[in-house]
Amino acid sequence: MKFGYFDDEAREYVITEPKTPYPWINYLGNEEFFGLVSNTAGGYCFYKDAKFRRLTRYRFNNVPMDVGGRYYYIKDGDTVWNPGWKPTQTDLDKYECRHGLSYSKFIGEKDGVSSELTCFVPKGTNAEVHKLAIENVSDVQKSLKLFSFIEWCLWNGMSDMENFQRNLSCGEVEIEDSVIYHKTEYKERRDHFAFFSVNAPINGFDTDRENFIGLYNGFENPQVVEAGMPRNSVAHGWSPIASHYIEVDLAPGEKRELVFILGYIENAQEEKWESKGVINKTKAKAMIANFDTTEKVDAALAEIATDWKRLLGVYQVSTGDEKIDRMVNIWNPYQCMVTFNMSRSASFFESGIGRGMGFRDSNQDLIGFVHQVPERARQRIIDIASTQFEDGSAYHQYQPLTKRGNADIGGDFNDDPLWLILSVSAYIKETGDWSILDESVPYDNDASKATDLFGHLTRSFNFTVNNLGPHGLPLIGRADWNDCLNLNCFSSDPNESFQTTNNKMGRTAESLMIAGQFVLYGREYVELCKRRGVDTAEAEKQIDAMIEAVKNYGWDGDWFLRAYDYYGKPVGSKENEEAQIFIESQGFCTMAEIGKEEGLCEKALDSVAERLACEHGIVLNNPAFTKYVIEYGEISTYPAGYKENAGIFCHNNPWVIIGETKLGRGDKALDYWKRIAPAFREEKSELHKMEPYVYSQMIAGKDAFKPGEAKNSWLTGTAAWNWAAISQDILGIKPGYDGLIIDPCVPKDWNKYKVTREYRGAIYNITIKNPSGVCKGVSSLAVNGEPVQGNVVPIQAADSVNEVDVVLGGKS
Ligand code: GLC
Ligand code: GLC
Repeated sequence: MKFGYFDDEAREYVITEPKTPYPWINYLGNEEFFGLVSNTAGGYCFYKDAKFRRLTRYRFNNVPMDVGGRYYYIKDGDTVWNPGWKPTQTDLDKYECRHGLSYSKFIGEKDGVSSELTCFVPKGTNAEVHKLAIENVSDVQKSLKLFSFIEWCLWNGMSDMENFQRNLSCGEVEIEDSVIYHKTEYKERRDHFAFFSVNAPINGFDTDRENFIGLYNGFENPQVVEAGMPRNSVAHGWSPIASHYIEVDLAPGEKRELVFILGYIENAQEEKWESKGVINKTKAKAMIANFDTTEKVDAALAEIATDWKRLLGVYQVSTGDEKIDRMVNIWNPYQCMVTFNMSRSASFFESGIGRGMGFRDSNQDLIGFVHQVPERARQRIIDIASTQFEDGSAYHQYQPLTKRGNADIGGDFNDDPLWLILSVSAYIKETGDWSILDESVPYDNDASKATDLFGHLTRSFNFTVNNLGPHGLPLIGRADWNDCLNLNCFSSDPNESFQTTNNKMGRTAESLMIAGQFVLYGREYVELCKRRGVDTAEAEKQIDAMIEAVKNYGWDGDWFLRAYDYYGKPVGSKENEEAQIFIESQGFCTMAEIGKEEGLCEKALDSVAERLACEHGIVLNNPAFTKYVIEYGEISTYPAGYKENAGIFCHNNPWVIIGETKLGRGDKALDYWKRIAPAFREEKSELHKMEPYVYSQMIAGKDAFKPGEAKNSWLTGTAAWNWAAISQDILGIKPGYDGLIIDPCVPKDWNKYKVTREYRGAIYNITIKNPSGVCKGVSSLAVNGEPVQGNVVPIQAADSVNEVDVVLGGKS
């Protein structure tokens, strides 16, 4: 069942039924100010940090769900309704939510009145703009009463929902003209305030929640709206809100447009006040003036559309399959950008409070957006590397505001360092900017301990070399990519965190996933060394030794082992009672092509097909754990089929997909991708539950109570990895150090497709033909009519437009 449709022309997903199986959300803002907005206008906004600078309140895990948002109540006689349906839930004659790129539009119609609410964050502006158009489409005069509504958060998202003894006495507001100012804590240590304005005279207002809603009413029936009369309340403590009251009289056919701004302002210490107790509103007024007409608002909205057109223009494919095209051309890159902005902090599953930026997450996310915003990617790499320790290991997370490592969580996740090689090499391949390797970058943010960035990569590589276990395989530490495989944590206390408890930290538990990662990114490191004239003999020796160790101690007969536990016993082996096979080591060892000549990769992936794959994707392990295994940690705590216990953890599916392309099995690779790609799951939205336009972290696996049901949409490494898999390994357009590598691996029955790629300042119009029906292998390549040997398109002059003709036909 579908709840809407893709409008590819407008680059929107159009939701036509407000009762989606879960709130289907969108993100506003791409710089410093962000909003999350559901398909019924729920959500909240914040400045830079969803924990420390939260502007509006949102209630997670509430009944009913999705409570708190930008609510506009329209009272027409006795009927009250909202353009976004909630919170009144009054049946609408028409409802549409159009989630577009960095904006959302709500179209509601009731009893001859139509409304259109457009929400977005203009460029260079710390505010949400809400343009509300109300039109009388009936043939009678309409006298409408409009009430806007938002509820302020008292800045710190955490204390706002726990420290009531203080909070409920702190709230302060000011009202001037049509603007309501929120100034809680401004008189002491804060140098910022928020405001909610409208570009029209108002007929009243409310700023106190109890006055507006009433103690015994809810968002769906505020007493002021029911009475049709504001109370002009001024909040003193309790819960400050902002509501404008406007009488809207419309003749038949008449339309009125209003612009509301929900803004954030910072004032320097000496400029905080206009007079005693009265805030200096100069900057707020300037911001309001920037958007005081609908023309200005429309121009700001158009600017965002132009930006997106440019960003998405970097990679456009036309395959003839509209679902593939809309994932690659619109939604996957869009999700990658949101993931870049948010990391794992703020979604409808991440409260914006608990998690900083992950070292491994941020490095992996980078492969999804480096082609869109290379300069920002460069800065991100420097920020991440600056938190690395001198021995090459890393803080697992860092705080975006301070950019410092998070000591509460610490380090010892032994996969972390190697991801830095992935991100740096991806950045150089995209941009050709080798100078990044010479940047001086501190360790643990201490400038006195800086080396160049290349030195950081050396230490990343050596960290694994210096931390090998009894089989010559990498020690796992607290966990590798799988945060829940905690082999050095034997926890029997429910109040302990599996991620930070390592009461059994020893030097026996080893990871085959890190082994594959070391070979794959170690080779990348060697390539960088060669190009810098650094001797590679020792590094190559280490990589070869790792390959041998994997073949000797990491092969279980039909697949790669997953690990060795604290006692040196195999994990992910036929010998085990449960969880005999895991996905991560199959993915990484086959991406690294370990034992490919001997047939190990093929065998491993055949085992994946047989034991892990199901119609909704590839599960993480099989059979699922049904009992708690103290030696394994959190992985065995989840019910079977969910999360890291045999869920389809979509982040790691592309590792297998890329592995399949290494074997040249294009049909299999695309088939796996389609099982998890959201556009291909749209028809089963009632089961999938999450947005059909973005990937979810997890889809319940075959052992689950409800296989196919997704959770944790939006902020997941799935976005970046699937981008890599589909755009580079399946469609086969891959940035390289010396040019664009053309190496498709597609289904045999594809006979032609086209990709336009902007790369290092030039445009490449690439046509790929497959006359003999193969999956892989470039048999001829021509650039602007000239034949080129091999499969690398040499870098062309900046601003040139180039025609690239590719014919497949090598081995099938
Ligand atoms: C979450 C974490 C990521 C981890 C994955 C698997 O997505 O953000 O760091 O690799 O779970 O446990
Ligand atoms: C939980 C989640 C896992 C995530 C980890 C990070 O264990 O299940 O996905 O990676 O927390 O904190």
